[in-house]
Amino acid sequence: MKFIYFSFFIIFDLTLSSTTTLSDLNLDTQVLAQPVIEENWEELLVAGPLAINYIGNLMILASKCDFSLTSSSPSHVYEHIKYPNSFRMTLAQIASEIYNAFMNAHTTIERIQSSTKQIPQHLKIILKLLKSAAPSIIQVMLPKTLDTIERIPKDVANSANIIIKKYESSTALLQEVIEALADSYGVNNSVLMNMNVLVNATKELNKMQQQWSEIARYLSILTIRVETSRQTVFYELMDTINNIISMNIQLNAADRYFFVSKMLDAIIKIEQDANLLYIIAKTYYDVSSAYIVSQMSDVSKLLLLQTDDERHAAMIQLDETLLFTSAEISQIVLEQKQQYQQRNQEIQDEYKQFIQQMMFENLTASIGK
Ligand SMILES: *[C@@H]1O[C@H](CO)[C@@H](O)[C@H](O)[C@H]1NC(C)=O
Ligand SMILES: *[C@@H]1O[C@H](CO)[C@@H](O)[C@H](O)[C@H]1NC(C)=O
Ligand SMILES: *[C@@H]1O[C@H](CO)[C@@H](O)[C@H](O)[C@H]1NC(C)=O
Repeated sequence: MKFIYFSFFIIFDLTLSSTTTLSDLNLDTQVLAQPVIEENWEELLVAGPLAINYIGNLMILASKCDFSLTSSSPSHVYEHIKYPNSFRMTLAQIASEIYNAFMNAHTTIERIQSSTKQIPQHLKIILKLLKSAAPSIIQVMLPKTLDTIERIPKDVANSANIIIKKYESSTALLQEVIEALADSYGVNNSVLMNMNVLVNATKELNKMQQQWSEIARYLSILTIRVETSRQTVFYELMDTINNIISMNIQLNAADRYFFVSKMLDAIIKIEQDANLLYIIAKTYYDVSSAYIVSQMSDVSKLLLLQTDDERHAAMIQLDETLLFTSAEISQIVLEQKQQYQQRNQEIQDEYKQFIQQMMFENLTASIGK
């Protein structure tokens, strides 16, 4: 009995997991925090293959014999379980809901990966405008380009929240199954084994939900960052630009240098935030493509195993796959972490070079006078 209370405690504890909303965010403290890629990104990414391993194990167990979930109170209505007459069907339902969440996550992360990759190009356009475009062009193009950048994290934030909800509902289904098992069979040993694996699977799903909370948090940080630079630097610059246009004069090298230096810090930080999101999305997408989506779609086959030999072989296969996959993920995260750090430094260097070049041009312009 002790075990059951213990696992319920874990499950209920898991439901308190945090989902970050925009209003929770304080940009300064968020930025000081270690990015997830430096912390537990690997542990979070391994959660997918682990969850698949647990579901696979349950299916192998269930292929041997099916049983029903019968509540102690006859009038009980299950909220999430569709087929209480069959544990096997219930597992198929679980697998299908999880697959659905994984597929959704997969397509969304692909969008995040390809759209954040564009951000540096938009930032270069801003610098180019400030450096050499006519004031009237800056007046039109600068707000437009900032809009384009801001739309990138905003457009996917909603999809990220939908995925978080999908994980929540999968977790709710698993919890109901665990409760139904306890209610139907008490401390029956064979059922206890199923419950144990279900509890483990739930923990991993919760980590996958955490991944998306992290992704949603970074999308918010990026949105706020663009918004903030628009509100501070940008309006100030636009006032000056508007004045210059109304006075019908041209920008000189000193003006341009001033504009670029005003925006440079914001541009560097936006590009670094975008770099972090891109790396996170890339590692997720690579792992999801190679080790999650098709594996999850294959797992239901295990329900159809006929003999104990087949079951034994399938269990060994599942564990070998997990071992191999964990090592691969570890390597992917290590490589991407290095990429992230290296690119972060390059971003600073590139912009420093840019501003030095402008300073030099300002100098030659003033000498030439
Ligand atoms: C234990 O659970 C199994 C289902 O896994 C069921 O077939 C069996 O009758 C149960 N035994 C007892 C003693 O309740
Ligand atoms: C559940 O996970 C723990 C580690 O978190 C592991 O020690 C245990 O063997 C797992 N149980 C089952 C039944 O898979
Ligand atoms: C740019 O040149 C102007 C003179 O034309 C000078 O006053 C200004 O300090 C220079 N700015 C920089 C950053 O070199």
